[in-house]
Amino acid sequence: MRALLAVLLFVTLTLPAQAEPVSGYAFLDDSTREMQDDEFSNPGMVTVDRGAELFHELRDSEVHSCSSCHGENGAKIDAKAIARYPVFNANLGGLVTLQERVNYCWEINLDRFPLTPGNSQLIALETYVRHLARGEKVNVQTDGEMAPLLAKGEALYNTRFGQLDMACQHCHVQHQGQMLRGQKLSQGQANGFPEYRLGRGRITSLQQRLTECFVSFRAEPFEEGSPEYDLLELYIMSRANGLEIETPAVRF
Ligand code: HEC
Ligand code: HEC
Repeated sequence: MRALLAVLLFVTLTLPAQAEPVSGYAFLDDSTREMQDDEFSNPGMVTVDRGAELFHELRDSEVHSCSSCHGENGAKIDAKAIARYPVFNANLGGLVTLQERVNYCWEINLDRFPLTPGNSQLIALETYVRHLARGEKVNVQTDGEMAPLLAKGEALYNTRFGQLDMACQHCHVQHQGQMLRGQKLSQGQANGFPEYRLGRGRITSLQQRLTECFVSFRAEPFEEGSPEYDLLELYIMSRANGLEIETPAVRF
């Protein structure tokens, strides 16, 4: 009995502190950290460069490029505004992720056909603009109109899905710090997205990473750009409030 109590006490004392967000960066080995920190060896920088090209590109017969409104090298983009995404924008129908904001500008301000969520040009532009805010602290609104949406996102985060009957929080809250198939489970923070994935050899948006997690615990993923993914993105971005934007982060 005493032993059981000791175990219970141990478990309670070692439960992760809920309040403190910790970036996935803290869970990396030294060589991956160095790779992320050095812009010449960070493989995600190729996507930042691709995004920069798209941002400045003036296509045939078009009047504007992104840079004609947002400045050469994004000089008029406010890092603090980027750090607030996803935002609530009543004119744009409510919850808007950064990728959706880019797509609105693509469609409305450049008069082009909107792109499908997860399109590589969208991800490149998203990576570029978020990289402009690197070092800025994530600062998602949690009160007002956002409060009920956040509650929905949190409910999804705690919902069990699929054959293994698992929820996000099982791995990223309850078991953070433990090993799973050779990987150390982090808090599943979103401050480094879009990020470069060494194991997959490609840039990965946040919603693409969610799909990988769903598949890994054998559950049916939602679609990129779906209301469910947008709500999850909102909730996990709000968990990252206070963490510095690392885009493009490097992860396994
Ligand atoms: C004709 C001008 C115009 C063009 C061209 C344009 N945008 Fe925008 N963009 C805006 C306006 C206006 C806003 C809203 C700013 C606000 O709400 O304060 C905005 C907002 C944004 C935001 C959110 C930042 C913020 O301050 O809220 C991003 C990111 C962005 N645009 C990216 C792009 C990208 C990428 C392109 C090219 C695909 C582009 N924009 C093209 C006018 C433009
Ligand atoms: C079976 C365990 C498991 C479940 C359940 C799970 N994930 Fe993950 N997730 C992982 C592993 C493993 C990684 C890669 C290592 C790490 O960062 O934890 C990861 C990584 C992530 C990352 C990237 C973290 C970073 O720093 O790049 C995010 C975001 C994430 N998960 C969100 C979610 C969300 C949201 C859910 C629920 C839909 C979920 N995960 C469910 C195992 C899981």
